[in-house]
Amino acid sequence: MTFDIQTQPGGIHFQAESGETLLAAALRQGVVLPYGCRGGMCGSCVATLVSGKVSYPSGNTQALEGRDPGACLTCQAVAETDLVLEVMEIKTASQIEVRTLPCRVVDKQALNHDVMRLLIKLPENQRLPFLAGQYLDFLLEGGKRRAFSIANAPHDDEFIELHVRHVPGGQFTSFIFDALEEKAILRIQAPLGTFILREASTRPIILVAGGTGLAPIKGIIEHAFHIGITRPMHLYWGVRQQADLYLPDLPLAWAREHGNFSYTPVLSEPDTGWTGRRGFVHEAVLADHPDMSGFDVYLAGPPIMVQSGSQAFAAAGLSHDHMYSDAFEYAKPSGN
Ligand SMILES: Cc1cc2nc3c(=O)[nH]c(=O)nc-3n(C[C@H](O)[C@H](O)[C@H](O)COP(=O)(O)OP(=O)(O)OC[C@H]3O[C@@H](n4cnc5c(N)ncnc54)[C@H](O)[C@@H]3O)c2cc1C
Ligand code: FES
Repeated sequence: MTFDIQTQPGGIHFQAESGETLLAAALRQGVVLPYGCRGGMCGSCVATLVSGKVSYPSGNTQALEGRDPGACLTCQAVAETDLVLEVMEIKTASQIEVRTLPCRVVDKQALNHDVMRLLIKLPENQRLPFLAGQYLDFLLEGGKRRAFSIANAPHDDEFIELHVRHVPGGQFTSFIFDALEEKAILRIQAPLGTFILREASTRPIILVAGGTGLAPIKGIIEHAFHIGITRPMHLYWGVRQQADLYLPDLPLAWAREHGNFSYTPVLSEPDTGWTGRRGFVHEAVLADHPDMSGFDVYLAGPPIMVQSGSQAFAAAGLSHDHMYSDAFEYAKPSGN
């Protein structure tokens, strides 16, 4: 059975098959709705159900907790009737084709004890069109996928840069650390996600990165510098200890070179002698900005950080329309 899905206020129509998630149906037809983890965790895909009925056969609805009854997680919801959804289509991302491509590893460099920088390259004469902040999926055997954010900006696209944190016992990240060799060929699908800079906004920007959440945030910041954004931008980078700040000089250089950029590292388990900010990164943001209502906020990193930050910032007056997040969910044991 096929259902008609209409968006408001854009008035776009697409069709969803029974059992197909609304997001999958939209993307299949070239309609890019906001999304991030595709696992029901991050809340980036929340729309408002204006009319009709949906169900959640996967049961993955964590991001619905605490939201209004009309909230609809498009990455998990399947239509039971025709629907009207209030949701903004992301026009810029929808203009870029998602492609499956081979790529070659051209450099593998340990940045610290548990983060590896990979540079990968597409086949000769090919470049990957993408928007700063998007991610790619590595396609593994048996239909498995692993998501990693693109850490470079689109203007600087000779290589694709990734920051990979080693997950102890993790299948793919252990392979990258222990066995992957330069010149190896991998398969990717890209670009994915809608964690991108909202360039038309005039609000000051707060960027909150947890660990390798710096990767998409780095892409966004370098893109913002490249296009000459003059709005104030403040980066908070939260990690456990100083050694986890795996590119320690980069944000300092940005701050020296760009008058509108400032930076605060925040350690949750500070080493002795650390005189900087300590605690959870979202708490440091709130201590500096008890009223968040005037900002655009970009949050990327571990799901728990994204979730705690989103809830705390909403309580401090930040509307969901100005909160953009990329939660680094990991693949479910079933494979995808
Ligand atoms: C949109 C998106 C962008 C991402 N970008 C990045 C990025 O730029 N850099 C980066 O380092 N990671 C990123 N991640 C997370 C990354 O995809 C996972 O860490 C990776 O898939 C782990 O694969 P694995 O095969 O090593 O672990 P698996 O074999 O899948 O997992 C092994 C065990 O570790 C647990 N686990 C897996 N991943 C994590 C994790 N991240 N944290 C805690 N426990 C975990 C699993 O539950 C399982 O028990 C991103 C995730 C998403 C959804
Ligand atoms: S909750 Fe749907 S994309 Fe993350």
